[in-house]
Amino acid sequence: MSEPKPTYRHDYRPPAYRVAHVDLTFELDPAATRVKASLQMERHPECKEGEPLRLDGEQLILKHIAIDGQALESDEYTLDDDGLSVRQPPARFRLDTEVEIAPCDNTALEGLYLSSGMYCTQCEAEGFRRITYYPDRPDVMATYSTTVIGDKAGQPVLLSNGNPVKRGELPDGRHFVTWNDPFPKPSYLFALVAGDLKKVEDRFTTMSGREVTLQIWVEEENLGKTDHAMASLKRAMKWDEETYGREYDLDLFMIVAVNDFNMGAMENKGLNLFNSAAVLTHPDTATDAAFQRVEGIVAHEYFHNWSGNRVTCRDWFQLSLKEGFTVFRDQCFSADVNSAAVKRIEDVAFFRTAQFAEDAGPTAHPVRPDHYIEITNFYTLTIYEKGAEVVRMLYNLMGEEAFRRGSDRYFERFDGQAVTIEDFVDCMAEASGQDLTQFMRWYSQAGTPEIDAYGEYDYANAEYHLTLRQRTPATPDQPEKAPQHIPVRMGLVGTKSGRDLGLSLEGESLGSDGVIHLREAEQTFVFTDVPEAPVPSLLRGFSAPVQLRFPYSREDLAFLLANDSDGFNRWDAGQRLAMLALDDLIAAHRNGVEKVMDPRVVDAFRSLLERGGDDKAVLAEMLTLPSEAYIAEQQPLVDVEAIHAARTFVKQSLAATLRDDFLRLYQENESDEPYAPQPEQIARRSLKNVALGYLMAVEDEEGVELARRQFEADHNMTDVRQALTLLTHSSRDDLAAPALRSFGEKWAHDSLVMDQWFAIQVTRPQTDALDRVRHLMAHPAFSLKNPNKVRALVGTFVNQNRINFHRADGEGYRLLADVVIELNRLNPEIASRLVTPLTRWQRFDEPRQELMRAELERIRAEKLSPNVYEVIEKALA
Ligand code: TRP
Ligand code: ZN
Repeated sequence: MSEPKPTYRHDYRPPAYRVAHVDLTFELDPAATRVKASLQMERHPECKEGEPLRLDGEQLILKHIAIDGQALESDEYTLDDDGLSVRQPPARFRLDTEVEIAPCDNTALEGLYLSSGMYCTQCEAEGFRRITYYPDRPDVMATYSTTVIGDKAGQPVLLSNGNPVKRGELPDGRHFVTWNDPFPKPSYLFALVAGDLKKVEDRFTTMSGREVTLQIWVEEENLGKTDHAMASLKRAMKWDEETYGREYDLDLFMIVAVNDFNMGAMENKGLNLFNSAAVLTHPDTATDAAFQRVEGIVAHEYFHNWSGNRVTCRDWFQLSLKEGFTVFRDQCFSADVNSAAVKRIEDVAFFRTAQFAEDAGPTAHPVRPDHYIEITNFYTLTIYEKGAEVVRMLYNLMGEEAFRRGSDRYFERFDGQAVTIEDFVDCMAEASGQDLTQFMRWYSQAGTPEIDAYGEYDYANAEYHLTLRQRTPATPDQPEKAPQHIPVRMGLVGTKSGRDLGLSLEGESLGSDGVIHLREAEQTFVFTDVPEAPVPSLLRGFSAPVQLRFPYSREDLAFLLANDSDGFNRWDAGQRLAMLALDDLIAAHRNGVEKVMDPRVVDAFRSLLERGGDDKAVLAEMLTLPSEAYIAEQQPLVDVEAIHAARTFVKQSLAATLRDDFLRLYQENESDEPYAPQPEQIARRSLKNVALGYLMAVEDEEGVELARRQFEADHNMTDVRQALTLLTHSSRDDLAAPALRSFGEKWAHDSLVMDQWFAIQVTRPQTDALDRVRHLMAHPAFSLKNPNKVRALVGTFVNQNRINFHRADGEGYRLLADVVIELNRLNPEIASRLVTPLTRWQRFDEPRQELMRAELERIRAEKLSPNVYEVIEKALA
């Protein structure tokens, strides 16, 4: 396991041998599953005779190997830790192997494993090699025929990709089902499920009139939690037909809920596997945010059927080809079926916090990386979310119609193939006639471009001069950066009229979308016929994934917050205004000076509360202060305590001054309608719960009483969770302790609710939070082997409880390192994700840097998995 070697993108070679068809037979057994594989193979015409055949294979016990029915002699092949080589195979042949594997020992949750007594698989990215010997790379695409043999009592349900073609009884209480998948696919899309599952069934008629059976398979007790996922699936299927002209291609589409799962969900052909948390919902157990997350993930996995499965990736460096595009597709879907403005605000708020932090840290990498040690470390915010922002820029550059022509071209030209990001961008360039050469830098250059903007109004000539200067900071391996092509959507808002002034760039109209293209390191744009002094509204809708600075005064920002025609930039103006005030307060805290609230922020919030007319969902976002994580991202050096103190001060000041407005807002948005995850209801609840958050910030009797009543009313999980969170995070332990106790008892049987119970407690700002984490790790509902539990308890603490994780005594860091060391053995994928906050040590003060580095060193001294090794080496480089 020591010093694993990187894989380089430029070393790509096409496979020497192809697989036309695979026949698999599984004889399931917890400790000794037998897997027989029969591969129809063919040497590539351009490949020389006698070229050895290389197959991947890990943790397999080989029982038998034969070519065309002839068992191989021991000198005809060699076995090593990560595969098998056959010395001189013929040009066309059938390779038969039989291996033994142990699903019950598989805690990494890659390959075939057991979850709550059910067999299931996770093959992306390189898990299939833990099931059988195979050329486990996405550019080898084959049709599959899979026979699953199981115990009738233990595994009454036997599933795999495609259509069931045969089933029957076997001796000793066993049975089998054979599945056929007619669409050639890479091995990472293979799936198998076997267990005691129940299904909910529905139907969908495709645009060409074909009938598709839809099934969601769950444990019996979860049968009441599938409605929303099923409704979301049907909406997504319809949307993809209407928006992309893409129809589903098999007669059967299945979703299975799995309790132990490393990620959100997986798009296996015809058999999507979902983390239970990403598919199960009920008004009593899931919050509005969870309902929306489920809808987005169901759509995301479904959309992969075209963007990923029918057209797949040539190699894993092209991962964003499927992930960036599919995230863009699911974001657009969610925007269309919910509040589009709120969806964009939420996505950008998250992006600017988490992806910017990734770009600024030691694991920064381009949307298409050049090398990796462990590919599962690259399922990142950069590949997914920044990749989606890049596709969004293409969409906006081309316009809806040309983008659709480009995507049609892409799906038609490359159907059934494994392709590259160039193939995708070429289709877009051809469909739009645009030169995307410079644009390709978005795929190769890591780091967040920073734009410094400066503007001047020339009264005499009625001109506005806008100068933009771009610079991308150095990232690991990339000291020098070239200028990016940055589309900046903008408007000039007249200070007298409060309206958008027409945009003419040196006499030529910019059109209605108002996009200027920054391509040089520095460019000045001269707007003519500007009748009054404007305030520029820049980067509307977050038109490019960049950090843009402009020397706005607080008056400018209050003006934009009140007048900007772009809803996103109104929200952003509010965030910028709050940030200016927060910066002052952070400085005051550091200097030990008394904190004074900026009255302009109070006034801006007051007018938001008084003016009405805003979309409730957007208003809730506007009333939400930047998170501590976002504030930290904006500081040169992170002062955790000052940030926490400043933000708390702003919240309490607003709450104290505007108490009656918040109370009114709370009352106006109360409702006892039966719960529905509908946009209008969600908007009211979020507004009401934001108001309650302010009322509880000062903990006056009335606020506390409202929270207590909201908890007791037990109307739906969104309201209950917010009330319980506010009580738990307040000083009122007399109320919080019994509420937590009754909640914990009531939901002890529901693992997904217990995850929330963990998360609520470990985000407490009180100094006992860390002790609670250690204490809760011994709770019977907690298990280090279950990724959801690890994320809920440890992940939430280290990522969302910043003052306690960054305790000056280093106990937070020690706790994280302890957990990472244990998880490195159990589940390397989860371990290397969890360690992320420690890798950001350079952002903190000297003593904390020392403490964090010491914990990284302590981890480094262990015998590490390639996953954790790669991250730790980068962090300490
Ligand atoms: N392709 C999956 C998605 O984005 C991601 C995924 C699910 C995954 N499980 C995984 C990636 C395990 C790596 C390892 O929809
Ligand atoms: Zn995906």
